[in-house]
Amino acid sequence: MKRSKWRCQTCGNQEVKWAGVCSKCKEWNTFVEERAPPVPGRQVGRPVALHQVFPEVEERMVAGWQEWDRLLGGGAVPGGLHLIGGAPGVGKSTLLLQVAHRYAMQGHKVLYISGEETERQVSLRAERLKIASPHLFLFSETRYEAIEEVLREMQPTFLFVDSIQILWREAISAAPGSIVQVRELASCFMRLAKEQSITTFLIGHMTKAGDLAGPRVLEHLVDTVFEFEGEKKEGLRLLRSIKNRFGATDYLAVFQMQETGLQAVANPSRLFLQDRGEASCGSAVAAAVEGTRAFLIETQALVTRSFATTPCRKSTGVDQNRISLLLAVLEKSVGYRMHAQDVFVSLAGGIKVKEAAIDLAIACAIASSLTRKPLPAGTLFLGEVGLCGALKGCSQIGLRLQEARHLGFTKVLVPKKQETSPAVEKARGKMEVLGARTVAEAIALMGS
Ligand code: TYD
Ligand code: MG
Repeated sequence: MKRSKWRCQTCGNQEVKWAGVCSKCKEWNTFVEERAPPVPGRQVGRPVALHQVFPEVEERMVAGWQEWDRLLGGGAVPGGLHLIGGAPGVGKSTLLLQVAHRYAMQGHKVLYISGEETERQVSLRAERLKIASPHLFLFSETRYEAIEEVLREMQPTFLFVDSIQILWREAISAAPGSIVQVRELASCFMRLAKEQSITTFLIGHMTKAGDLAGPRVLEHLVDTVFEFEGEKKEGLRLLRSIKNRFGATDYLAVFQMQETGLQAVANPSRLFLQDRGEASCGSAVAAAVEGTRAFLIETQALVTRSFATTPCRKSTGVDQNRISLLLAVLEKSVGYRMHAQDVFVSLAGGIKVKEAAIDLAIACAIASSLTRKPLPAGTLFLGEVGLCGALKGCSQIGLRLQEARHLGFTKVLVPKKQETSPAVEKARGKMEVLGARTVAEAIALMGS
């Protein structure tokens, strides 16, 4: 007897029978029947001794766009299957059309499948991006079978699919974008990529919840997963790889969305600090590290007397709970009357940072706004703030100091424990180094 399974279209949860509400994500009416497609006749292979498998000399194909090539680990691997996720409107189609063009400019045959837009719409975008190449082909189609036929005939080196959620296979009755369709399509593209050595990039939309819903179920299947993020109203766009079978995942690519498409940002710190004028109250510079890159970020705080029963606390770019914790520490261990103040905190440039190493900068920015005393110019603040107000060291301090020196910073405030670490010692001749045990000590040192 052939049994079918039921899968929740929101979270991917699987049940043996239909259910009105998903036991995992609590969404209603999300179960769809899933029947395993018939397995085609398979050739029987044989296991091979490991020492008899010779690694091939890895060929890499570059796009000639450093920010992109580095993210891929030095270029694309033939037959690699990549997934790029991002919220609608973040710029996925723009990015991949630019990438497609770069590969075409290197002389590769490139096919861009646009299921979401007509060829005319894509060509309008291409015009805006000043893209034209005889090797770049567009195909506006959503039916997989038609795409496969074209692929077999055309045999491109690169394939871009925009997007995986809009395509559908005739053999599957579920709607386009459902988990059943998306998974089946991804395994079809995987087979094609490997069989015909087509380097494939699939675009996947992320939901508001922030996960690659739908595409999340593909993560184990594809070779590489990229996440593209950024606030729509800001120009900043970050592209990170969260899985890469062909290389490291520690490079963060930074772009800026402009009138003529995405431009790589070679020096992101300049972007995050660009609006900084003279030293002003409530502003302190922190350094965050992502993978192998350090960024200087301006933290801004506005503290004003509150006239409401519950004071207002708002933050952009940093977790609000982190701000509440810092405010409690400032109240308890520094003695500020934060409970009677409205507090707003934001990071300039639209970046989001989860690292606790930016705590000290935020705490000092808040103190500076409260006391109306600007912090000394050209100073970097490093350190995590503990519950008792003690400063804890941060990782990769050398990388952070190097970036600050590079941008002409002359002073750094570090946790006392790290003051004598080799990386800090190295910076000492070029920067003034101040050590503080607690957040109160740091604020006193800065004269706020
Ligand atoms: P798009 O690539 O369509 O996003 P996605 O495919 O992720 O949904 O582009 C999103 C936005 O980018 C769109 O609102 C317009 C803007 N944009 C620019 O600012 N400059 C440009 O050169 C292009 C092509 C788009
Ligand atoms: Mg798009």
